Amino acid sequence: MKLFLPVILFALAAPAQAQDQAPLPAPPSGDVEPAGDDGGRIVGGTIALPGSVPWQVQIVTTNPITAAELEQDRALGVTRQNWETRHLCGGALIAPGWVLTAAHCFVDKRDGLRALNERAAALGAQDLRFTTPMRIERVAIFGSYSRSGNKKNDVALVRIEPIPGQTNQAIAARAQPIRILGSRPGDRALALLDKVTVTGWGITGAHEDGDVRDLAKRPLRQSPELLEVGLQVKPQADCRDKVAGAAARGGLGAGVICAGGAANESKDSCSGDSGGPMTRVQGRERVLVGLVSWGVGCGIKGRPGLYANVTDPAMLKWIERAKTNAPPGQVTRLR
Ligand code: ARG
Repeated sequence: MKLFLPVILFALAAPAQAQDQAPLPAPPSGDVEPAGDDGGRIVGGTIALPGSVPWQVQIVTTNPITAAELEQDRALGVTRQNWETRHLCGGALIAPGWVLTAAHCFVDKRDGLRALNERAAALGAQDLRFTTPMRIERVAIFGSYSRSGNKKNDVALVRIEPIPGQTNQAIAARAQPIRILGSRPGDRALALLDKVTVTGWGITGAHEDGDVRDLAKRPLRQSPELLEVGLQVKPQADCRDKVAGAAARGGLGAGVICAGGAANESKDSCSGDSGGPMTRVQGRERVLVGLVSWGVGCGIKGRPGLYANVTDPAMLKWIERAKTNAPPGQVTRLR
């Protein structure tokens, strides 16, 4: 029997106007991070039904595994498959060809910007063994985001380069954008104790910060299938007191959602989940409210995680600006 793939055109918005911009500083080389260096995979979650999270995006690194990473794997007795070493971050499809992810997935530890060709994005994936990463055409980083500072506004807008042919159509059939909460009048604003869902392919083992040995026991070879976990929105003070510490001295602000960290259960996002969607129910649909950003360790009881709030009116405005103002062919910071 022959299977015919539904022919759905990968509709793309008209290309945005290029703007005159100062040339980018050259990306630092030789600064490749292991996929699970400080993020996480979902802890305490369950497998997401194939097709149930059509807005989920995977951001991969195109940099080959380094000798140092191979050596670390060997020391831990871990052998990682290709799909494991190239996985980097999650993301959320918000319109055809447009993806929101975490800024830190494109920013190195010294706040330098990655080159466009160091990353690619896969749409419509559930099992990482079978993804088809597509080229990225432009990236806008939220202007004031700093990895070395308070890590606020950890948001990047990514434009995917369409590839002609059947692969494109098959992917488009499985990928569906998600609407952002606050983009329609009448949306109920995100509130304390709201139930939210976070999805990703990140690390699944609870562990303290920097506990690499624990990762050896639960290495990055867990299910390649997408996982989801239900969390509750917490007061920002929880994140300030239990996670952010000095980084939050100036307050966390409207740009941050604090979630999870229940006293009695180990549920959290983790390395590799970064940039992935946090969603909530609004009426009869699921809408995007945040992106996985950071935490200290993963799945430690009583310790919540931090998420970039994309429902903040200032962020919604930035996203619209970035769609029209981000220059093609590069990774740019955009105010
Ligand atoms: N920074 C991580 C990443 O790159 C996400 C960490 C989330 N951590 C947490 N405990 N919630 O994937």
